[in-house]
This record gives sequence, structure tokens and C-alpha cells, in this order.
Amino acid sequence: MVPMLGAPKQASLLLAVLLWVSSAATISIRDYGAVPDGRTDSSRALQKAWADVCALGGNAALVIPQGTYLIGPVVFKGPCKGPVRVQLHGTLLARSELSLYKPNWIEFQYLDGLVVSGHGKVHGQGARTWGLNRCHQNHKSDCKTFPMSMVFSFVRNATISGITSVDSKNFHLMVFGCRNIAFDSIKITAPGDSPNTDGIHIAVSENVVVQNSVIRTGDDCISIGDKTVNLTVAGVTCGPGHGISIGSLGRNANEQDLVGLHIRNCTFDGTTNGVRIKTWENGPKNLLVRDVVFEDVIMNNVQNPIIIDQKYCPSRTCPNNLKPSRVKITNVQFNNIVGTSATKTAINLICSAAFPCDVQLKHVDLKYVSGQANAFCVNVKANLRGMGFHGGGSAAGAGDKRLGARTPLGGHSPHRHPSVFRRQAMRSLFGKIVREGSVPPSQEDPIQMCGCAVVGLIRIFWMAGS
Ligand SMILES: *[C@@H]1O[C@H](CO)[C@@H](O)[C@H](O)[C@H]1NC(C)=O
Ligand SMILES: *[C@@H]1O[C@H](CO)[C@@H](O)[C@H](O)[C@H]1NC(C)=O
Ligand SMILES: *[C@@H]1O[C@H](CO)[C@@H](O)[C@H](O)[C@H]1NC(C)=O
Repeated sequence: MVPMLGAPKQASLLLAVLLWVSSAATISIRDYGAVPDGRTDSSRALQKAWADVCALGGNAALVIPQGTYLIGPVVFKGPCKGPVRVQLHGTLLARSELSLYKPNWIEFQYLDGLVVSGHGKVHGQGARTWGLNRCHQNHKSDCKTFPMSMVFSFVRNATISGITSVDSKNFHLMVFGCRNIAFDSIKITAPGDSPNTDGIHIAVSENVVVQNSVIRTGDDCISIGDKTVNLTVAGVTCGPGHGISIGSLGRNANEQDLVGLHIRNCTFDGTTNGVRIKTWENGPKNLLVRDVVFEDVIMNNVQNPIIIDQKYCPSRTCPNNLKPSRVKITNVQFNNIVGTSATKTAINLICSAAFPCDVQLKHVDLKYVSGQANAFCVNVKANLRGMGFHGGGSAAGAGDKRLGARTPLGGHSPHRHPSVFRRQAMRSLFGKIVREGSVPPSQEDPIQMCGCAVVGLIRIFWMAGS
């Protein structure tokens, strides 16, 4: 039998050599002294292993094997000799002492070529510090003392997939100054009442993708800051939490424009907002939010399914004579947004008097479960496109004769009767208008008040008996 064994043995040796030559080095934190007992601080082992991986480059991999490792703040800093990988199979458990953090927990910086993969977890142990966080109650206090769990700054050509972030102390993930970065099949969880636990915050970044992910947390699911260019969010489920938000914007003089944001195939479960844009009044300079598409979105019992708020003031302490927001919101499309609203006002478009926003709604079909749903809208600029309108919202029947009262509802060709189409659409959508103190009482005519671009089917339903 001995001669028989010779050939396979040699072949496997050859294979091993080939694999060694063609595959990159892997470095396990266990070989650097990390202890998977959840109690021994393994930060130094992790930091030293990173230094070696970074110096190797060439797709070298840092491996965090199964087990729970207690970790203080760590920085995976580049530039590295070449692209690097991090394989997270175990759990990184954050230390609780806030004084350790300056200011965040796990940071990736100045890298070109990064792959983070595995089915491991980063556990922020936020439950131990949320009680100390007063940022959400008093906006003047300093929230920076609470570390974000994972921060990617100035990272290029990166993919982060498979991992889970649990109970962050502050934001779960932050993306800043990045380019060509994708998050795929990420899971984020924290209780619905945990403070400031935004899922992913993205700012000053280009070509960012977030896809096939589930984000259940206490604050925004995804929040999008200034200078975000070409962002795609697809296949993301949010809730609990505050939904997907562009902004808040327009408060600081150094902010730059946002262009090309695509949010599609997303589901919101019981969130306070669905898709939202929020900007401050009294801004120091003009800012642009341009080319935004929200499409194929399902709302399940969402409090504000569609909301643009250009009078954003979360602490509600802003005086009411502020100058209108200087953020111009243009070419924003809401296409195929369907499901249920938990509140009466399913659509809120409160735009700036200085820069009326240019919004298109196409096949927006939202039902309110216990009564007549409605839309509220101010300073929205008309921008009609010739597409079919199917009347049929129960909001029809506003008494104003100017609103196309002599025209039968439904089935018009807007190519032939653009003005009739427009009036009908307005009437159906805004047949019942909510008035708030912030709206000048002179704006009584829904068409003047809300020259919304209404394209295709818009129905705000009343579901009888439920
Ligand atoms: C990162 O992407 C840019 C193009 O976007 C490319 O020029 C560069 O070589 C890439 N770096 C790596 C490490 O792949
Ligand atoms: C936008 O981002 C996607 C994903 O990163 C990329 O494939 C696409 O080329 C980008 N588009 C532009 C114009 O840069
Ligand atoms: C939509 O997202 C879900 C995940 O929520 C995914 O399974 C599905 O393939 C996506 N569909 C399309 C058409 O992208």
C-alpha cells in the first residue's frame, strides 16, 4: 500500500504549496495573545495583529476566530502596503468605561482596498451606558462622549458584508470621507427606545451602497449627511427606528450639496418616519439636494410615511420668525410607495418659502387604518409629467368649484388635458388639507399652496371599519 500512497501525498503537498503561493497570509488574533473569554482585554493583540496585516498588504487577512473578545478602542489605520481583509467570525465585545474612548470604538481609516466579512458580531454593550445619554433630551449637551461602534473614514474600495452590530452606545456605523464602499447583508439591532443608535450614518462620501440588510434600532435606520454623492440603498428593512433620513441639513456653513440618492426596494416596519428629508431654517448659506429617488417602498404602520420637513427643529424651541430654509430640494421622486400610515397625515411636504421644492409623486398608495387619511403640503413647486391619473382617493369631493368640479373623475389622458389632469390630481390628493399654525392662513387654495407634481396613481385611503 505504501507506493499507492505516494502519489496523492505528493499531489496534496503540491496543492498546499500552490495554495500558499496563491493565497494571502492570514493572521489570527489568537496567535497574538487574544483570549476568547469575554473578560480579558484583547485590544493590544488585535492592534498588533492589524499592524502586521497592514504591513503585509497583498490581501493579507486578519482573522478573529469564534469566541468573545473584550475590546477597548481600536484603530485599523492605513495606508497599508496593499488591500487587506478582516474576517470576523467571533464577537468583539466593547468595554463599558466611557473614559477609554477618544472618541469611537472600532475605526477604519485611510485604507484603499478593504474587505470585512464573516458572520461575527460587534457588540457595543450600549445597555450599560444608554442611561447616561442625555443628547436626545437636551440638544445642547455633548453627544460625542458616546462612542460609535464602527467608523469608516477615508476608506476606498471597500466591502463590508455579513456582520452584525448589536447595541451600539451611539451610532452603529459611520461612513465619512469614503469612496466606493459597499455594505451588504449587514444586520443591525438595538432596542427601539435606545438613544442615538442610528444604524448607518453616511456623509462626505461618494459611490456608497447599502443593500440586503436589516436595521432595527432606536434612531434613524440610515441617515444621510451633506456631500453624499451617488448613494444606493436597496433591499433594506428598517424598524423599529426613525426611518431613512436625508439630513438634517442646512445648519452649518461648511456643508456641501447632495446629489444622486437612490433608495429602493425597502420596507419600513412600525417606524416613526418612512422616507424623510429634514432641513433647518435660518441657514448660513444655500445648499442643494438634487436627484433623489425613493422607489418600491413598503410602509407597514409608519407614522410619517413620506415627509419633507424644511422647518426642522427637534427640540421645538425655535422661534417662528426664522428665515426660511436655504436648502433647495429639487427633482425628488416618490415612486411606488405603498402600505399603511399609522397617522392621519400620510404625506407631509413642508418646503421652504425661499426655495419651493420640486417633487414628483407616482403611484403613492397609502392607507390609514382608522379614518380619513390626508396630505399636508406647503411651498411645493408644480412639475407635471404626462402620465395617466386614476382618480379614486376618498379625498375627492372638496367643495371648491375651481378644482375641476365639472370634470368626471378618473381615466383622463393628461396628454390631452394637462390642466384638467392637474386640477383633478390636486383635488384628489389635497381634497382635505390639514392646517397647522405654521401655514399662513392666506394659502387656502390647495393648488397655490401645493403645486405638487402628481403623476400616476395617488390614493390616500380610508379603510372602513378597521
Ligand atoms: C480603488 O479604486 C480606484 C478607482 O475607483 C482605483 O484607481 C484604485 O486602483 C483602486 N484601489 C484598489 C486597491 O483597488
Ligand atoms: C455610482 O455608484 C455605483 C456603486 O458604487 C457605481 O457602480 C456607479 O458607477 C456610480 N456612478 C457614478 C456615475 O459614479
Ligand atoms: C428586494 O429586497 C429583498 C431584501 O429585502 C431581496 O430579497 C430582493 O431580492 C430584492 N428585490 C429586488 C428586485 O431587488
